[in-house]
Amino acid sequence: MGNTMEQVRPDLPHLTGPVPGPRARAIIERDACVISPSYARCYPLAAERGEGAMIEDADGNRFLDFNAGIAVVATGHCHPRVVEAVQRQAARLIHMSGTDFYYESLVALAEKLAAIAPGGIPRRVSFGNSGAEAIEGCLKLARYSTGRPNIIAFLGCFHGRTMGALSLTASKAVQRTGFGPMLPGVIHAPYPNCYRCAFGKEPQSCAVECVKYIENSLFHTIAPPRETAAVFIEPVQGEGGYIVPPKKFFDELVRLCRQNDILLVTDEVQCGMGRTGKMWASEHFDAVPDIFAVAKGIASGMPLGATVARAGLMNWPPGAHASTFGGNPVSCEAALATIALLEEDLVENAARMGAYMMARLRDWPARFPIVGDVRGLGLMIGIELVRDQRTKEPAPDLRDRVVSMAFERGLLVLGAGASTIRLSPPLVITRDQCDFAMETLEDCLKAANA
Ligand SMILES: Cc1ncc(COP(=O)(O)O)c(C=O)c1O
Repeated sequence: MGNTMEQVRPDLPHLTGPVPGPRARAIIERDACVISPSYARCYPLAAERGEGAMIEDADGNRFLDFNAGIAVVATGHCHPRVVEAVQRQAARLIHMSGTDFYYESLVALAEKLAAIAPGGIPRRVSFGNSGAEAIEGCLKLARYSTGRPNIIAFLGCFHGRTMGALSLTASKAVQRTGFGPMLPGVIHAPYPNCYRCAFGKEPQSCAVECVKYIENSLFHTIAPPRETAAVFIEPVQGEGGYIVPPKKFFDELVRLCRQNDILLVTDEVQCGMGRTGKMWASEHFDAVPDIFAVAKGIASGMPLGATVARAGLMNWPPGAHASTFGGNPVSCEAALATIALLEEDLVENAARMGAYMMARLRDWPARFPIVGDVRGLGLMIGIELVRDQRTKEPAPDLRDRVVSMAFERGLLVLGAGASTIRLSPPLVITRDQCDFAMETLEDCLKAANA
């Protein structure tokens, strides 16, 4: 990256002047004229190139990227082995449509996903291009294979923006407003958010009321088990605020699903691919999904989504479900290179760096009155800001201020949920980069608090 970096550490931020600079500003002005206003940009970053955990903008400013393209570039920006795989495959065969023809990378990637899927059971895979498409596949397969119409999903979860996925999504009102009616048969239950328990319980003494609600209330009213195909859940809630459920929740949820022949479908789109320090977030809870959705981190930025199911469940006939571009050879090769890197050491690094940061973050609620809660697994960490630790009133304005101040200091973070700062760096980050992020956020929290 840039050659203006004499005496500047290439692995840490360096700003050449106030941001945005003139080139970034010009891009942003053009963008404002032609790009859909539905895109929600938090700060004026115009990215030009990336390497590892660093992003250089159009004016040569270097930022430390704690977003990873929204949890996508698991192996960092432009990892040489991913770039090599993409270039090699692009020169040989870019597209053939696996829906109608055969090619080896499609099979190799499905074999690999089946081999690393939770549970060690036979799996089949259907490919698409995005998280939403992976969820659509899960939704259609759940209904098709059970012959049942209803789906139980959770408040706060985000599953994508196509109409089926959007019907499951219950994250922010703006995402659904004006787009109804949604898919019939989708029923939402409270997510196990122990910091803000919908049932007023404390984690230590709760009796998993959020599963009881499904069993004692939904099953007896609007979602009888024999009409309910599946429960869809993010094992760690992403867009909704980086929320980690207690293990006993999953123990109960799995029991409920098994007792009633209801499929457990996990959305690993954001929390999967090693981000939490295990390949799949559901592995932290020993929950083996019948079907799961993967995308984002799977191919380090090349578009790819996958619906992975118990082999016996994927019993739909030719023509029932497919996607022209899904699993194109270039994305498949990028995914194979990505998974190899994750298995070599990046999943382990995510666990290590996550634990390192969490050790430092743990006392932030005691040190900063505006920090209500810190939680996370691996490199999926949420810092929830509140106006008052006792009332837990969310503080979205303070959160947004911290996010903006961090940008002005060279650190890229984003919000999630009502007032949480999310940390989702690439899995290649180092201790020094973690230290920079922690120190910068501490400065910003002090400034926001003042
Ligand atoms: C958990 C989860 N599921 C699904 C999606 C949708 O993915 P995509 O934007 O690739 O359609 C997202 C995107 O943020 C997500 O976080």
